[in-house]
Amino acid sequence: MPLREKGGKYGLANGGRLMAKLAPRFLIQIRIPMAQFGTVFCDHMTIARFENGSWGEAAMQPLAPLPLHPASHVFHYASTCFEGFKAYRWQDGKARIFRLHDHVARMQRSAKSLYLPIPDADLLVGMVEDLVRKQIDDIPQPPSSLYLRPTLIGTLPNIGAAAAPSTEATLFVLASPVGDYFAGGARPLKLLVADTFARSTEQLGSTKTGGNYAAALGPTLDAKEKYGVDQVLFCPGGDVQETGAANFLLISDEEIITKPLNTSFLHGMTRASILTLARDLGYRISERDFTVAELFEWVPTYEAALSGTAATLTPVGTLVYNGEEIPVRDGNAGPNTDKLRKALQAIQYGDAPDTHGWLTEVSL
Ligand SMILES: Cc1ncc(COP(=O)(O)O)c(C=O)c1O
Repeated sequence: MPLREKGGKYGLANGGRLMAKLAPRFLIQIRIPMAQFGTVFCDHMTIARFENGSWGEAAMQPLAPLPLHPASHVFHYASTCFEGFKAYRWQDGKARIFRLHDHVARMQRSAKSLYLPIPDADLLVGMVEDLVRKQIDDIPQPPSSLYLRPTLIGTLPNIGAAAAPSTEATLFVLASPVGDYFAGGARPLKLLVADTFARSTEQLGSTKTGGNYAAALGPTLDAKEKYGVDQVLFCPGGDVQETGAANFLLISDEEIITKPLNTSFLHGMTRASILTLARDLGYRISERDFTVAELFEWVPTYEAALSGTAATLTPVGTLVYNGEEIPVRDGNAGPNTDKLRKALQAIQYGDAPDTHGWLTEVSL
C-alpha cells in the first residue's frame, strides 16, 4: 500500500481516489471526496540528525513514530520550525518542486532565528528530492499535488535549557498528497479584522515556528465561534499584517498593495511569486505599511486575497470589524485575483513556461 492515513489503513492518491487495502497484494480504487488537507501521508520519510557539532547522513525510512527523550528541548521550549511546499506531477510523469531552494533558505533562516542547528542546504534539498523520487507514484495529477513538510526539532534532553539552545536536533521530511483547494469553486472568505492582538512577536513573525500558530489559535477559534469567520486578519495596533497561515493582498486592475517585508510576518513564497507575476503583467506593486482605516477606504474598490502554498490565492469577500460586516467590493471573487491565481497555477501545472526558474525537476 503506497499511502497511509494516521493510524489507519487507508491512503489517498490520484485526485480523490481512495486506495483501500483489502489484502496484501490487492488494491482497489474508489472515488470519494478528497481527504482533509494534511491527514494522509506517504509511507516513507527522510530523516537526519545533528549530534556532536555536525549533521549525519540522511536516511530514508518507513513513516514511523520518532523515539524522543521526554526531556527533549522541543517539548519544553518550542525549539521547532518547519516548511511547507508542493511537488507537481506533470503529464510527462516527472515531478517538479515549486521554489524548493527558496523554501530551504527560509527554513535555514527560521533555524538561525531559533538558534537551532542550521540544516545544510544540500542535505535538505537531497532529503526532499529523495522522498519525492521514492513516492513518485503517489503524486496525484494537477490540480492535486504532493505537499512536503520538512520539520526541524531540538532534541537535546535538558529541561534546564530554557535560556540555552538545543545543540542536538532531528530534521525530517514528510510527504502528503493533497487535493485541489478550489474543487468546490473559489468561495470568498470572511475575515475578522482584529486590531487588538498580534499573531506573533516583532522578532519571530517571519520565523515559521510552531509557537506562532499556537498564538494565533485561540483568537482564531474565538472569532470563528463568535462571528462565523474563516480566519483572523491580525492588525496589531491598526497595522494590517496577515492571517494565521496566509499573507494578505489588496488588488485592483492596476495595483497590488501589500505589507513590505519585515520581521513581523511570514515572507510567503506565494506572495513573492504573485508579486513577480503581477509585475510581469504590468501591475504596479506597492509594498507599504497600511492601517485598518486605510483598508476600509480601499475595500469598496479593491479586491482582497490571501496568498499561501495551500490555497495559492484565495479571494476575501467580507471583513468583520466592530461587529459589523463590510463587503469587499460586491462580496464576490474578483477578476484580478482569479487572473493572478491562474497565471501562477499555469506555471506550477506545466501549462506555461517557468520563466523565473521556480521549478526543480526531480530526476527519476
Ligand atoms: C503565517 C503564514 N503566513 C503566510 C504563509 C504563506 O507562505 P507561503 O506562500 O510560503 O506558503 C504561511 C504558509 O506557509 C503562513 O503559515
